[in-house]
Amino acid sequence: MKKILVIGAGGQIGTELTAYLREIYGAKNVIASDIRATLHPDLMEGGPFIRMDAMDSRQVYQVIQREKAGQVYFLAAILSAVCEKNPEMAWDVNMGCLNSVLRVAHELKFRMFVPSSIGAFGSTTPKHNTPQLTIQRPNSIYGVTKVAGELLCDYYHDKYGVDVRGVRYPGIISNVVPPGGGTTDYAVDIYHKAVKYKTFTSYLKEDTFLDMMYMPDALKAAVSLMEADHDKLHFHNAYNVSAMSFSPKMQAEAIRKHIPGFTVRYDIDPVRQCIADSWPDIMDDSAARHDWGWSPDHDLGSMTKEMIEVLNDRFHKGK
Ligand code: NAD
Ligand code: SER
Repeated sequence: MKKILVIGAGGQIGTELTAYLREIYGAKNVIASDIRATLHPDLMEGGPFIRMDAMDSRQVYQVIQREKAGQVYFLAAILSAVCEKNPEMAWDVNMGCLNSVLRVAHELKFRMFVPSSIGAFGSTTPKHNTPQLTIQRPNSIYGVTKVAGELLCDYYHDKYGVDVRGVRYPGIISNVVPPGGGTTDYAVDIYHKAVKYKTFTSYLKEDTFLDMMYMPDALKAAVSLMEADHDKLHFHNAYNVSAMSFSPKMQAEAIRKHIPGFTVRYDIDPVRQCIADSWPDIMDDSAARHDWGWSPDHDLGSMTKEMIEVLNDRFHKGK
């Protein structure tokens, strides 16, 4: 089989996606790559790794040609809260890396997965059941790069026939590597603090609802879309995918079922609160369900149970 390259493999999604792809397609067929020199040890030991700067399209071209990669999962990016601290860098990295890899995809003809985000929406977008096609005027620089990225992918698909596919992920919750500096990171950290200290300080207000997804569903979405029949895809890029919607208060209540006495206090970060207020509560993902059979396996209850079990084993039993 042709090889698969994961660009940005060292991050929250890439670390688990690379392991998942290696289970499906075989370890030697899935190459991890990142600008970082070292990734999670399981990733470094579990298969091939190439250090690469995705902004350098010559290097990207050489690696993909040499390795004969037929699919690229493109995950290199900077997330919303970090973007807001350095908007120039946000634009340069998020757009520079994507543009570089799309140019190579046009020349070498590989299939590409590019995730967009709930961040591609803004305060003028309908918040509840956000439609697949709707107003997209984000007020964060991260969101600006996400909308521009969606449009650039559409352009390469429509103009040059590049088989580039993607979803709009909600906030992703996981337990292998920490999230990279987004607005939704609180929803991961809350589990760590609950298991370690039975108390947590939230930077978002207790009634801030956001669209969220557990990592196993995020991995399933990526691979299902990449394996889907091209002719059945009406959108190709930026498919809304949803799994659950909750607020910090609701998440704390779900945690209290397993950790009685868990407490939350609130110390609001205005920057992340403003971003969160402009993002969907929950997206309408009927196009993904119709075109490639999307459906999530996890809700808040099942995710919370599993997150607490895994973190309990890690922190209190040394597993
Ligand atoms: P992350 O920040 O955890 O990881 C990004 C990775 O990209 C890092 O390992 C980083 O070293 C790498 N990278 C940065 N610049 C690079 C470069 N020039 N060359 C090569 N690698 C580079 O991000 P993530 O959470 O894994 O997100 C992956 C993608 O999914 C991003 O496009 C993000 O916008 C999108 N997304 C993530 C979430 C989420 O909740 N994690 C939600 C919606 C969308
Ligand atoms: N989790 C991401 C962020 O908060 C959403 O794209 O930036």
